[in-house]
This record gives sequence, structure tokens and C-alpha cells, in this order.
Amino acid sequence: MSATAPAPMPAPTPATAEPDSPRSFSERLKAATWSDHASAEHHGFTKALLDGDLSLDGYTAMVAQHYFAYVALEEVGRALADDPIAGRFLDPELQRVPSLEADLRHLLGADWADHVAPGRATRTYVARIEQMADHPEGFVAHHYTRYMGDVSGGQFIRRIAARAYDLADGAGTAFYDFGSLGSLPRFRAGYRERLDGLPLTEEAAAYLVRETRLAYQLNTEVLAELGRHHA
Ligand code: HEM
Repeated sequence: MSATAPAPMPAPTPATAEPDSPRSFSERLKAATWSDHASAEHHGFTKALLDGDLSLDGYTAMVAQHYFAYVALEEVGRALADDPIAGRFLDPELQRVPSLEADLRHLLGADWADHVAPGRATRTYVARIEQMADHPEGFVAHHYTRYMGDVSGGQFIRRIAARAYDLADGAGTAFYDFGSLGSLPRFRAGYRERLDGLPLTEEAAAYLVRETRLAYQLNTEVLAELGRHHA
């Protein structure tokens, strides 16, 4: 090559940056999955919810589907409590099953359990979560997709639902109440630090990213199913 040859154009950075990229893993994960987030965020059912146009029945049906997913997520979490990868994400303050039960009791009455059942999409989602008992990195993917979402966009939903359905004093929206965590921006920063501190091989990192994309897709399927009945 002659001394005057132009320097080659730098290769574009792929969405899933190479392992030697200076980008942190949490940034890589978010960048590689943000288009899947958009599909969940802009789904018709979500849009109706965000616009305050969803019926109370529709909202209640979503809470019920959440209930089955979190029962699975938190059961698998307990099974992985001593795992060096999954264990570092488990936090008793995150537990959502008690607040989902309280919300369903408020929305459907004391016999709420007789009135809820997982839809087909939720059963598929739950089956995948249960498989993660043998795949700690995959469990982290599902944990991240739900809890980071709940402490982010979930906080908008909480305010919209309280107004749209006249739910006073947090009754019916306890699921979105993470008051015991303190500052949510600080929690999110700490969560990203935990992601960045994971001792992942490139193979495990790529698996975690792939499983997060799947987790988003499974959530979008649940929203689609809810939308067929309620939007
Ligand atoms: C309902 C409409 C939604 C809105 C308005 C919304 C909004 C947001 C916003 C503003 C953030 C950025 C927070 C930050 O950077 O600190 C965020 C992050 C996130 N959301 Fe959503 N979201 C919605 C739905 C969802 C759904 C359905 C899921 C998954 C089931 C989800 C999962 C996530 C996750 C995992 C993050 C964290 C991304 C990261 O910082 O790595 N969101 N959301």
C-alpha cells in the first residue's frame, strides 16, 4: 500500500457489538433489543392502554396474565437463588406476585382465583420461563425484560391506569409500585452495573441477548392475545 493511500473506512458497528468493543454489556443488550422493545411498546393493546382507551376488563385481563408469568419467573428465581449468575439479580423488593394478588383481589374480588386463567400465549411464555431453571443467563434475560420494563415504562402505565380506572391509593396498581426500592433511576443504574459485572463468555453473552429478544417477542404475543379480546 502506498503511503498516500486513503485509510480504509471504519466498519460500521453492528447492533450486537463485538466482544472487544468498549461498549458495556448493558448498552449492547439494550441496543440489540430496542427494536423488539418498540414492537411491545407500540402494540395496539399497549397503545390503547397508554391512551387511556382500554376498558377496565382489558386492564384486569392484563394483570391476570402478568400474574401467571410472574409466578413462573419468581419460582424459577427461587430455584436459582444460589446460582452465581442469576442469584445476583434476585431482590426481595422486586417480588411482584404478592402485589399482583392484591391487585386481582381489588379488581375481581376475594374469589379472583376462580376467574383467571392463562391464555395460550401466556402458557407458551410460562413454559419458556420454566425452561430457564437450567439456563441462568436465560433467566437473567427474562428477569431483565420484565423488571427493568416495570421500573421504566411501567411507571407511565401506573399513572395512566390510576387515572383511567379511578384507582385511588394504589389499589389495583400495586404491581407498579416499587416504592420500597427507593430511587428508580438509581436502581436502574445499579441493575446495569450488575449486567456489566456478569462474568460472561461471548457465547453466554450472545445467548442472553438472543433470549431477551425472545422474551420481548413472547411478551408481544401475550399483548396480541389480549388485544384480540380487549382492544
Ligand atoms: C407500555 C409501553 C411502554 C413504554 C411507554 C416504555 C417505556 C420505556 C422507557 C422510557 C424506557 C427507558 C428507561 C431508561 O432508559 O432508563 C424503557 C425501558 C425498558 N423497557 Fe419499556 N416501555 C413500554 C413497554 C415495555 C414492555 C411491554 C416491555 C417488556 C415486556 C418493556 C421492557 C423494557 C426494558 C427491559 C427496559 C430497559 C432497557 C434498558 O435500559 O436496558 N417495556 N421503557
